[in-house]
Amino acid sequence: MPVGAKLIGVGAGIPSAVVTNADLEKFIETSDEWIASRTGIRERRIASEEETTSALAILAAKDAIAFAQIEPSTIDLIIVATSTPDNLYPSTACMVQAAIGAPRAAAFDLEAACTGIIYALAVGQQFVGSGTFKTVLVIGVDIHSRFLNWEDRNTCILFGDGAGAFILQAADGENEILATYLRADGTGAHLLHIPNTGTAYPHAGTTPPKAMDRFLQMNGRAIYEFAVHAVPEAVRATAAKAGIRVEDIDFLVPHQANRRIINAAAERLNMRKEQIVSNVDELGNTSAASIPLALWQAIRRKQVQPPAICCLVGFGGGLTWGAAIVKWTAKDKRGDYNAED
Ligand code: ACO
Repeated sequence: MPVGAKLIGVGAGIPSAVVTNADLEKFIETSDEWIASRTGIRERRIASEEETTSALAILAAKDAIAFAQIEPSTIDLIIVATSTPDNLYPSTACMVQAAIGAPRAAAFDLEAACTGIIYALAVGQQFVGSGTFKTVLVIGVDIHSRFLNWEDRNTCILFGDGAGAFILQAADGENEILATYLRADGTGAHLLHIPNTGTAYPHAGTTPPKAMDRFLQMNGRAIYEFAVHAVPEAVRATAAKAGIRVEDIDFLVPHQANRRIINAAAERLNMRKEQIVSNVDELGNTSAASIPLALWQAIRRKQVQPPAICCLVGFGGGLTWGAAIVKWTAKDKRGDYNAED
């Protein structure tokens, strides 16, 4: 018998160091005007050496737990979506499990690049919906700054570091995760990748790759084209699965890759500016973290007020894309403690 699921918390973990476009101008040939007009990004957060992927994930987990006011010991499952874990293993999810005090939670990582948070949400919903688990912590976290060539102006300007978390819980009443939709197309794997970081390299006995060969590589134009088609397709398909019209969606919470992609996709969906949730100007592209971080800030700023039907839509390396339509009814149980005016 399927059980309903709802989102009861959202949280953030962001590094303290702010790197503005003007800071980038000091060491690469770029300008605030170029970056802002092409991407909408003005600044991003960059992790220090101490701020590891697990450290940011733990911050986001604790923030979401405080939002929902639950006991960490009641969490049954922790899923961390990341492409940039601390290590190949143990999983980042196990490190979160130990740090937050959730001894009975199962824990694993999941990798679907920037779409990872949507995949993790869908997996979490399946465990709740089947009645297997009651409370699931889902985290999207990435530290891309460690895998960027800081001399390559085509890529290094785009990314920021961060973590965002959701808490899902079984619900007696209606299912508030109205639908999820997951897609992948591995034929586009070469369009966005971080090579030489897994078992495809090194070949035993050969010279280790130079640091330069282990940086993120991207075909920007191709990713742009992919994204502006994938976002409307995922939104329409998920709305159809949820049995609602696109016009019934109150807010679009897209992956924060860049403002031009977000605006082009929103235009294709006939959505108004006020319906678009975006903080790419402040945080840049935080990969798997960007969707919960955008929603987290929109709630703090009271742009999104419950109840609201939100379409979370992701796209990224793989290629992967997907969406989740959720009815957001949760309020921060700390009251206005964390709200921004
Ligand atoms: N500062 C100044 N000039 C730059 C910079 C920069 N940071 N980067 C590139 N340029 C130059 C290029 O060298 C080029 O110069 P040239 O004509 O003399 O060769 C010129 O600007 C134009 O470059 P284009 O690549 O044509 O710029 P475009 O308008 O396509 O914008 C961008 C590039 C922003 C990357 C765009 O392709 C895009 O938005 N792509 C989507 C990619 C994306 O968002 N990826 C994020 C990761 S993917 C994900 O999250 C799923």
